[in-house]
This record gives sequence, structure tokens and C-alpha cells, in this order.
Amino acid sequence: MTNPGWEDVDAYIAEKLLGPDAVLDAALADNAAAGLPAIDVSAVQGKLLHLLARISGARRILEIGTLGGYSSIWLARALPEGGLLVSLEIDPHHADVARANIARAGLADRVDVRVGPALESLAAMAAGEAPFDMIFIDADKENGAAYVTAGIGLSRPGGLIIVDNVVRDGGVVDAASSDSRVIGTRALFDMLSVEERLDSTAIQTVGAKGWDGLLVAVVKG
Ligand code: SAH
Ligand code: DHB
Ligand code: MG
Repeated sequence: MTNPGWEDVDAYIAEKLLGPDAVLDAALADNAAAGLPAIDVSAVQGKLLHLLARISGARRILEIGTLGGYSSIWLARALPEGGLLVSLEIDPHHADVARANIARAGLADRVDVRVGPALESLAAMAAGEAPFDMIFIDADKENGAAYVTAGIGLSRPGGLIIVDNVVRDGGVVDAASSDSRVIGTRALFDMLSVEERLDSTAIQTVGAKGWDGLLVAVVKG
């Protein structure tokens, strides 16, 4: 190969370390057939989320932004018997596709897809929901700071919070950007820079999904 690129390396890693996965392939195929955008996490990112859930011993996981359930399947596979993934999605069509993909994966008993604007679902959860061990934020980028703030309140001490898409081709450092997603992500970093309840970092990533980044935070205490 003369000019290996990010996608080639992702494919190599996936072949060596992830192996074939008919259930996840079928989920992506059905997402495409249903007209969903192909903005799921990549396979190697999904496996990272899965491993982080296992490392943190997560029994309760909250996901914000379900799409067709691709990342949900990776996360839910990390749950022990009796574990639960709650996944929030605004679009009922996305939620329907996700529920079918999750059922085919044999995970319907441990995934609860809740339809509605995530800020409303999160507000409803503030009373009476048991704490989460891990929270994966991957919905509209405009509300990232609000999702993290809500997530802190729903997390156990020591809980893990992950945010997808915090770099976006480097756009995050453009203070003059008029892109609402960049503005939202910069507001998230501003908020985290003074948020004393979290310890955070962010890692840039390249691969099948281009140049982007993941934010990783732990709730202190
Ligand atoms: N986590 C998924 C990808 C999510 S794409 C995966 O990796 O497989 C982002 C999703 O967030 C879309 O399905 C979109 O409909 C949803 N979304 C956008 N705004 C939202 C909101 N305000 N509340 C809940 N979900 C929202
Ligand atoms: C978009 C959203 C995502 O969550 C992602 O991983 C990639 C792209 C988007 O809205 O374009
Ligand atoms: Mg994303």
C-alpha cells in the first residue's frame, strides 16, 4: 500500500482486534435503509466505549443521542445481567430503528430508549432515577454543556462522562466560528474549565470518522 490513510488503519485495527460482527453490520445496513445519517461512532470507537463501560464496572449507563442504536449496542453489551442502558432520542423514527436493531442484538431487556428532547427527559429523570455509572453524550452539540451539567447530577461519585465530537476537524479552536455546533462545544470547554466537580481531558482522534475527539471526565468524590 503506497498511501495508507486513517480509514485503512481503522479497518486494520477492526480486523485484528474486533473481528466480524454480523449484528452490528446489520444495524448499520438497516440504519442506511431507513434513511438515517451515517454519523454513528466508528467500530473502534464503539469498542472503546464498550471497554470503558467494562473497566468502570458500569451497571447503569445513560446515553444521550441514540440514532439507530449502534453505540447503544456496544455499550449495552458491556452490561452485566440486570444492568440497564437508558438512551435518549428526540426522533421517533430513529428510536424505532434503534429498538429493532437492539432487539436483534438480543439486548432489548437491558436497553430503554426514551423519546423526546433530551433536556426534557433529563429534567424528568432528576427526581427518582438511580445514579448512573457512565454517561455517553452524543446528541446535538449546541446543548453539550447543559447535558454535562445534567449528567453530573445524575451520576454517581466516580462516574464517567464521555462526550463525542469535541474537535470536529479542529473547528473547536476557532473562536470566531459562526457554526452553532462549534459555539456549543466551546461553551462546553468553557464550562469544564471552571467546573470543580469534574476532572476532564479530551483526546483527538483520526479514523473512519475523520478528525474529531472524545472528551473524558470523571465525577469527583
Ligand atoms: N450515538 C449514536 C449517534 C447519535 S447521532 C451512535 O454512535 O450510534 C445524534 C442523535 O441525537 C440523532 O439521532 C439525533 O436525532 C439525536 N438528537 C439531536 N438532538 C437531540 C435532542 N435535543 N434530544 C435528544 N436527541 C437528540
Ligand atoms: C454529527 C453528529 C455526530 O454525533 C457525529 O458523530 C458526527 C456528525 C453531525 O451532526 O453531523
Ligand atoms: Mg457522535
